[in-house]
Amino acid sequence: MNSTSSKAHILVVDDDAKNRIALKALLEGANQDVVLADSGEEALRCVLKQDFAVILLDARMPGIDGFETARLIRERERSRHTPIIFLTGAFEDVRSIFRGYEAGAVDYIAKPPVPEVLQSKIAVFVQLFDKNAILIQEIAERKVIEEQLRTSAASLRALTARLQSVREEEWTRISREIHDELGQALTGLKMDLSWVAARLPTDLATLALKFDSMSATIDKTIQSVRKIASWLRPEILEQMGLAAAIDWQAKEFRKRTGIRCSISMPPEQALLDRERSIAMFRILQESLTNIARHAQATRVEVTLRNKANLLELIVQDNGTGIDESAVSSPTSLGLLGMAERARLLGGTFDVGGGRNRGTKVRVSIPLGMD
Ligand SMILES: Nc1ncnc2c1ncn2[C@@H]1O[C@H](COP(=O)(O)OP(=O)(O)OP(=O)(O)O)[C@@H](O)[C@H]1O
Ligand SMILES: [Mg+2]
Repeated sequence: MNSTSSKAHILVVDDDAKNRIALKALLEGANQDVVLADSGEEALRCVLKQDFAVILLDARMPGIDGFETARLIRERERSRHTPIIFLTGAFEDVRSIFRGYEAGAVDYIAKPPVPEVLQSKIAVFVQLFDKNAILIQEIAERKVIEEQLRTSAASLRALTARLQSVREEEWTRISREIHDELGQALTGLKMDLSWVAARLPTDLATLALKFDSMSATIDKTIQSVRKIASWLRPEILEQMGLAAAIDWQAKEFRKRTGIRCSISMPPEQALLDRERSIAMFRILQESLTNIARHAQATRVEVTLRNKANLLELIVQDNGTGIDESAVSSPTSLGLLGMAERARLLGGTFDVGGGRNRGTKVRVSIPLGMD
């Protein structure tokens, strides 16, 4: 990065014109620009106007002397941290050197300065100033990037919320169509089949058997259609609330997987709006699907409870335990979806467990005052 293309400024403060000119000649260079001040007052005006990499300050001057000037420079916000090097008389006593340090000097040089020593000391401060400028620029760039990240995270969150509500609407529509169209067609088919079966000649036993098996297949298909439709749109959730839906889902899970699933819920349930009950229910479904697919568990405990103004759902299994890497992986889309659902409602979500200690999914959402 070449942010140092602009020159570093050095302030030389000395009441003696000859000294000023000599110092300027010594220090001015391709990367360094020297600004001259002939008094403490002039120096204070200069530090108000621009930033300096270092200030070279004559200790003895008429008017406000170097020590007082240094103190005033330190009091100004803009120059609070600018390094100050005192130029002292050759035989300056130790006390005045200490005074210089107390006033905020970082170094001192006896007059007349040895050119190489002065140049190399100044070079160190100019380098520090340049590095500082690069750091300041990097911090500013990082702030811009952070702001962009914040904005894109907010839009992603809004997009997720939208996607989830669109998905629920879509599921509801598909569920209705499956239930109404497919369900009715199958019921019609079964009635027609019974009608034909009732009119079969009694001596056609093999045909009668075939009709029975066809009727059983239609029954099974009707069951599947109902199951798919109610997975997509759990009417029980809308009609009887979250507790009843959890109870039903646990029973379905037990039937489907053979894994024991116990439920613990308070007898009285707080009234939940559709958004919250759907979120909790979908998280439960997703957790149970994960248990069936990954956990090799034999037991699951589902707990729903109210804690202060929070509704908490815990799904604990006794399976192999989730891998730490899966918990934090950006490809664990099922877990991320659950976390996002909780977050959209101002809640929290965490998954934990350990090898052979099972997995615990915990979601907690505020019940809301609206
Ligand atoms: N109850 C559990 N027990 C053990 N491992 C689990 C459990 N739940 C999740 N995991 C692990 O965490 C991983 C991530 O889960 P996640 O639900 O995000 O994805 P998935 O189930 O693999 O795929 P999908 O996107 O279809 O849900 C799983 O692949 C599995 O390794
Ligand atoms: Mg999953």
